[in-house]
Amino acid sequence: MAESIRTVGLSLTAGGKRRVGPLNLILPPTGTTVIMGPNGAGKSLLLRLLHGLIAPTTGSIVSAGQQAMVFQRPVMLRRSVGANLMFAVRRAGGTPADCQRLLAEAGLADLAGQQARSLSGGEQQRLALARALACEPDILFLDEPTASLDPAATLAIEEQVSKAASTGTKIILVTHDAGQARRLADDVVFLHDGILCEHTVAAEFFDTATSPQARAYLSGQIVL
Ligand SMILES: Nc1ncnc2c1ncn2[C@@H]1O[C@H](COP(=O)(O)OP(=O)(O)OP(=O)(O)O)[C@@H](O)[C@H]1O
Ligand SMILES: [Mg+2]
Repeated sequence: MAESIRTVGLSLTAGGKRRVGPLNLILPPTGTTVIMGPNGAGKSLLLRLLHGLIAPTTGSIVSAGQQAMVFQRPVMLRRSVGANLMFAVRRAGGTPADCQRLLAEAGLADLAGQQARSLSGGEQQRLALARALACEPDILFLDEPTASLDPAATLAIEEQVSKAASTGTKIILVTHDAGQARRLADDVVFLHDGILCEHTVAAEFFDTATSPQARAYLSGQIVL
């Protein structure tokens, strides 16, 4: 397949208002697609639509393969770190050895016995990402996975994401962090009021974004 996801006329109406679309999107088969746009632009709704968590009002989505998602505020089972991860590993048909490897890759091996809900925000995000990677997804959706993390924790997540991308997992990442977008993006989808303003190769987006909405967003202006 020459694309990972294709949407045709995709839209979502909620609360009596069109929140997303109509969108015609074709996302590349590999690499990292970053979705940007101001608060309320429809980024999280689009991610939920693409992942199949909510049904569109109109249009269609074509995608193939296994998908996983990491939410901005991950929900942990009231169990240890190791048990949380093993739950996901077992569901994916994996073994305790797979669980150990994922714990090590997430830098959580020393915390395996700790209650997951007592982890710091950054540690919980690393665990959430490890859980998502347990099923070796073809497509991984990430909704602001580093929104409240310090620079070191952010880089730790970015390393995990880059590694997954380098082994062929298609990454679709929502972020407000322009530095992160520059570090990770291969292409950028920019949304404003649910509408696609542009979908551009990353280097071009940051240097010469063409839509006034994206230019204003990147320069910190507010557009209503
Ligand atoms: N179930 C719902 N009913 C009505 N309106 C909704 C519903 N869910 C979301 N919205 C509205 O749709 C718009 C888009 O929401 P969404 O969460 O996708 O924004 P976002 O781009 O992710 O913003 P942020 O950057 O703040 O996370 C918002 O104005 C929100 O209030
Ligand atoms: Mg959001």
